[in-house]
Order: sequence, then structure tokens, then C-alpha cells
Amino acid sequence: MKALSLSVLLAAPLTMTSLSAQAVTLKLAHNLQADHVVAVTLRHMAKEISDKTNGKVKVRIYGDSQMGGPRQTLEMLQQGALSMTKVSASELEPFEPAFSIFSLPYLFRSPEHFDKVVFGPVGHALEQLPKKNGFVLLAAYEAGTRSFYGKKPIREPADVKGLKIRVVSTPTTNKMVELLGGSPAPIPFGEVYTALQQGVVDAAENNIPSYVQTRHVEIAKYYSEDQHTAVPDFLAISTMAMQRLSPEQQEIVKQAARDSEKYEKKLWTAQVQKSKAEAIKLGATFIKVDKPAFQQAMKPLWDEFKKDPVKSKWLNKIEAVK
Ligand code: GCU
Repeated sequence: MKALSLSVLLAAPLTMTSLSAQAVTLKLAHNLQADHVVAVTLRHMAKEISDKTNGKVKVRIYGDSQMGGPRQTLEMLQQGALSMTKVSASELEPFEPAFSIFSLPYLFRSPEHFDKVVFGPVGHALEQLPKKNGFVLLAAYEAGTRSFYGKKPIREPADVKGLKIRVVSTPTTNKMVELLGGSPAPIPFGEVYTALQQGVVDAAENNIPSYVQTRHVEIAKYYSEDQHTAVPDFLAISTMAMQRLSPEQQEIVKQAARDSEKYEKKLWTAQVQKSKAEAIKLGATFIKVDKPAFQQAMKPLWDEFKKDPVKSKWLNKIEAVK
């Protein structure tokens, strides 16, 4: 008995050491094409993590919806089947109601206001909220503004009437389209091209880089710059994956994710100009719209947010950022 417990005692620290010395692979899945700036950023971050941990922590990336859409990848994070994923803030709404705030049309006063909120204390507080769901957010990425595009020009809210529009389906985005008289269609990002081509939807809404990189521009030639929302992307990591890392490795991963925000932002700004030029070359028409009319039409959503205790709390915090 004595000999046995002694051997167990002696073996225990050895096992611990060999475990922490083992290399860890973090699987990261997302739904973007390889040339999207966020995809480029994630590869850059993966290299930084590998370099700084002397190859002990590797991030293996699966892009282009290989592991499904954001809803699926977030669920895989919860089940421990995946370590990290990139999702749009809208896609966090079903997990954490506070994230509905990003789907509120015309939330930000300016690009500077967006930066101060998303990359500042309010954004950092939001990032911790999903913890009870089994994951947290490590970084936010600029994703510009989203506007409608379709086969016919949209100049004013009345032009949306009767259109079937693909959205990232959440209660807030669905309501936004309904307020304009359209019907929202919940189609996964990777299937929107075919849906537009086959006439399953008349229009969609996204930022300019995604409009061009997905080649939706080939079918939907009119991009109406109503800029209804500015929805950032977030990088999520499962709490189970975090626990597989040593405290020092956790810090390296967190820091690399934070650093990747600035890297992405720089790429993003250049990409918007490039994508717009490419779209024009491919025959797209950019339309200036009657923005105040869109703001007015979507005002009932603001009234609803002001009345809701959770939503109004975050709305007030965001409005208070100077
Ligand atoms: C943008 C955004 C993605 C999102 C996509 C969509 O490209 O960056 O995170 O998934 O829009 O409309 O589904």
C-alpha cells in the first residue's frame, strides 16, 4: 500500500509536466473565403500564436463554411468539438440578447463612434457576456456598413416593398426588413449566390467587400448605399479550449487576438476602396439613397429598444460614448 501510494505520488507531477509540454492544436472555423481580410488576419494571428509558443500551440483554420455556418460553429464550441470561430455580432443575438444592439439600424453616429464603442470599454464588456454559454470573445473586427443590393435599384424605403431579402436572420434584422415592407429570408452566407441567381431572393444586404468577394455583384448589379447597420465580426474561443492551455499560453492567445484587431482594420480600409473599384469594373451601380427616409422607417425599432430593459441598457451606454 505504502509503496503504491508513493509511486502514485511520484508519478503525478511527471504526468502533469508531460501534459503541459504536449503541443495543443486549436481548430478555428469560419464562413469567409480565403482572400477575405478577416481570413487573412486569422492566418496572421495563427502564425503569431505558433511563433510565440515555440510551436506548442497551433491554430488550424477551416474557412469557407467547411464546418457549417456560424450557428453550427458556435454550437460546436459549446460541445467542445471546435475551439474557435469567427461570427458576425448579429449571430450572437440568439445566445446573448445584448448583441441585438449591433443590428439596430443607424446605431453609430460616425466611424469614430463605432471604433470607440467596439474597441473600447463597452465592446470589451460585451465580449465577456457569452461566458455562461461556454465561450468568450477575444477580438472584434471591422466589417464596414451593410447596405441593400439587388437586381433593381433601391432608392427609398418604398422600393423595398414586396422584396424578398436575404438577411443574417435575427429578430432584429427580420423586423428591420419587415418595417420596410420586405420579407426577410434566412439563407446561409455560402448559399446566397445561388439564391440570388435562381430568384429565391430578390436582394441581400452586406458590406462592399463581401458583396464583391462572394461575386453577388455578378447578379445583383445595384448596390444602394443606405448603410443601415455597422455589424462587427467577433472571434470566439470555447472555455474548454482555453482550459487546455497553460496560463502563459492563454495570455499569448489573448494578446495575439487583440493585436489582430489593428492588423485587420488596416487591411479593411484598403479593401473597401479596392472592392468598390472592382464592383464598378464588373458593371455595378452604386446608388446614393434618401438615408433620412430609411432612418425614419426604422424608427419603431429604436422605440422598441428604448423600452426593453436589456437593450436600452446597452443602447444608453453606446449613446453615451462621445
Ligand atoms: C459579412 C460578415 C460575416 C457574415 C456575413 C453574412 O461578410 O463579415 O461575418 O457572416 O456578412 O452576411 O452572413
